[in-house]
Amino acid sequence: MERTAVPAPVPAPPAEVLRVRHEGSVAPVPDPAEALAVFDVRDLSVCYGDRPAIRDVTMQIRQGEITALIGPSGCGKSTLLRSFNRMNDLIPSARVEGTLRYYGQDLYARDVDPVVVRRRIGMVFQKPNPFPKSIYDNVAFGPKVNGMDVDLDGLVETSLRRAALWDEVRTKLTASAYSLSGGQQQRLCIARAIAVNPDVILMDEPCSALDPIATARIEDLMRELQESYTIVIVTHNMQQAARVSDRTAFITTEVDSDAGDHRSGRLVEFDRTEQIFRNPQHSRTEDYVTGRFG
Ligand SMILES: Nc1ncnc2c1ncn2[C@@H]1O[C@H](COP(=O)(O)OP(=O)(O)OP(=O)(O)O)[C@@H](O)[C@H]1O
Ligand SMILES: [Mg+2]
Repeated sequence: MERTAVPAPVPAPPAEVLRVRHEGSVAPVPDPAEALAVFDVRDLSVCYGDRPAIRDVTMQIRQGEITALIGPSGCGKSTLLRSFNRMNDLIPSARVEGTLRYYGQDLYARDVDPVVVRRRIGMVFQKPNPFPKSIYDNVAFGPKVNGMDVDLDGLVETSLRRAALWDEVRTKLTASAYSLSGGQQQRLCIARAIAVNPDVILMDEPCSALDPIATARIEDLMRELQESYTIVIVTHNMQQAARVSDRTAFITTEVDSDAGDHRSGRLVEFDRTEQIFRNPQHSRTEDYVTGRFG
């Protein structure tokens, strides 16, 4: 939805930030026309083995916005989301084709370190997955393993405050993360993602395991986080997409007549959320958002 308050722009990271393998390599200068595009996705396809899961996606994710990915089960939303921080690299059969630029830099270039990518572009999963550690250690873990030279106590507090969890846990930081409710655990996972200072947060159905009150808290939190981060969220909940996102991408499955009638995902329509829900340009989008299909 359009907001009245314009979020503060997030400063772009230096273009060479992802390049750690070849010191001194010259980073490409981002095209000024793409200055606001955090991700510039062109003809992106992801296959598992020889089966495409999603094909020919072209879209731009803009800085400081919340982008929602919606569509029926199996259309490739999680697959597309995982391509934004190279999580598909961890699935041996997954293969990514096309280009995905992050601030103008090819995210899949050989000299880009996926570990650095995942620090800049954090992820929160469907099921809260805190480590079997204390609340404090969950948040401090990332900064420690990344060798960040920071005041850890201060960083833990700031991250928990930003994740709207500090007031609930400040007196029990040494308690196990598992002693928290599901909604609190999800906010802890958000604090953990924030602690390593990312500039994008990817969320794959972050509220689907939560009750309506915990969901509302996470949605409020997303609005607050939007002031500092670019967010991409997968959701099955269309009201949630309509409530929290600035832009919405509708993806659906199509039969590939050129591939033995296998089905794979396609981006049907990508526009301002208001447009997608009030005045979609494609009948398939309209059928989906009005509940006639999917
Ligand atoms: N690790 C994997 N190995 C092989 N095929 C996979 C793998 N992960 C997903 N797929 C296939 O890719 C397609 C897209 O799956 P994906 O999980 O991206 O869909 P989704 O839109 O996130 O679905 P849901 O809404 O159910 O979470 C599906 O056909 C799925 O079976
Ligand atoms: Mg999924």
